[in-house]
Amino acid sequence: MEKLLEVKNLEVSFQTYGGEVQAVRGVSFHVNKGETLAIVGESGSGKSVTSQTIMRLIPTPPGKIKNGQIIFDGEDLVKKTDKEMEQIRGKDIGMIFQDPMTSLNPTMKVGKQIMEVLTKHQKMDKSAAKERAIELLRLVGIPMPEKRVNQYPHEFSGGMRQRAMIAVALASNPKLLIADEPTTALDVTIQAQILELMKDLQKKMGTSIIFITHDLGVVANMADRVAVMYAGKIVEMGTVDEIFYDPRHPYTWGLLASMPSLDSDDKKELAAIPGSPPDLTNPPKGDAFAPRNPYAMKIDFELEPPMFKISDTHYAATWLLHPDAPKVEPPEAVKKRLRKLSSNYPQPIIVKESE
Ligand SMILES: Nc1ncnc2c1ncn2[C@@H]1O[C@H](COP(=O)(O)OP(=O)(O)OP(=O)(O)O)[C@@H](O)[C@H]1O
Ligand SMILES: [Mg+2]
Repeated sequence: MEKLLEVKNLEVSFQTYGGEVQAVRGVSFHVNKGETLAIVGESGSGKSVTSQTIMRLIPTPPGKIKNGQIIFDGEDLVKKTDKEMEQIRGKDIGMIFQDPMTSLNPTMKVGKQIMEVLTKHQKMDKSAAKERAIELLRLVGIPMPEKRVNQYPHEFSGGMRQRAMIAVALASNPKLLIADEPTTALDVTIQAQILELMKDLQKKMGTSIIFITHDLGVVANMADRVAVMYAGKIVEMGTVDEIFYDPRHPYTWGLLASMPSLDSDDKKELAAIPGSPPDLTNPPKGDAFAPRNPYAMKIDFELEPPMFKISDTHYAATWLLHPDAPKVEPPEAVKKRLRKLSSNYPQPIIVKESE
């Protein structure tokens, strides 16, 4: 499979009064052409900073890319000028945010914002662009698009703004679409429509998608692979099946037991992971998850675990995977949730390595 994006050892920090926040601490992953990578993790784990850094949208200062490469389509985005990045953002990489107002221009009609992408990057003439803008607004579920196309963002409701932003992002047929909890604020029906829309675009255009979400149902529905982030690092990475049916990192166990799934009604059974993430101005040595890990060993507090390989696609950074570590299993509550999840989703075909 061909890689569209490869992030290598990315480190991003913010200068604050309280010190330097090490928000992203050596993150490496790739996204293949046409695939969807989900990024999951507790609040503050660095999901948004990672994705905004790919777009080069973190404010600098206080933010700074301290190290690493972001190879997109063969070129390192870290080295691009702001002007070059503007081109890439308008054309090759689209982004959908949690908050639509950060990407919509409040002083420009919604239709015009979509048309601008089409005339500039797709070389459409004005009337074709207007037609397509109306079509895109209809596609994302905005009623009366012929009228809405001439309105400003403030005339839209919150949910409609979200959809308008998606229309702008889709207009350029980007090679990579980064979606940072794009549907969190929307009602379930619209959410499902928008996810369908994204999948459809992906099928037609071969778009790669990075999808940040707190919803396990969305992960199951959308993603090919999953990256699990904790305290600015990826701690486990695998195909959806590997993460859902054979998770290896105790943090992933806790996360899977705590993440809601819109299409199931087991919210009461969700258990938050006890304790809280570390202070990123002064990250602990060893495994950052150790203080919250009921299975932590002495070494977890002393030495950072390497990424252990479980399969060609499955990796996890926990000392529990060391050949000398005791064999432990996910707690019963986690296994119960995983069993429940697996009855909600089609059974995976896991080809296990010899055990
Ligand atoms: N502009 C900033 N200045 C200082 N610290 C920042 C800034 N932006 C992000 N951070 C810090 O970087 C860390 C990672 O934040 P990030 O927004 O990536 O988390 P997240 O995983 O997206 O969380 P959530 O699920 O809540 O969206 C946090 O500790 C956050 O406080
Ligand atoms: Mg975020």
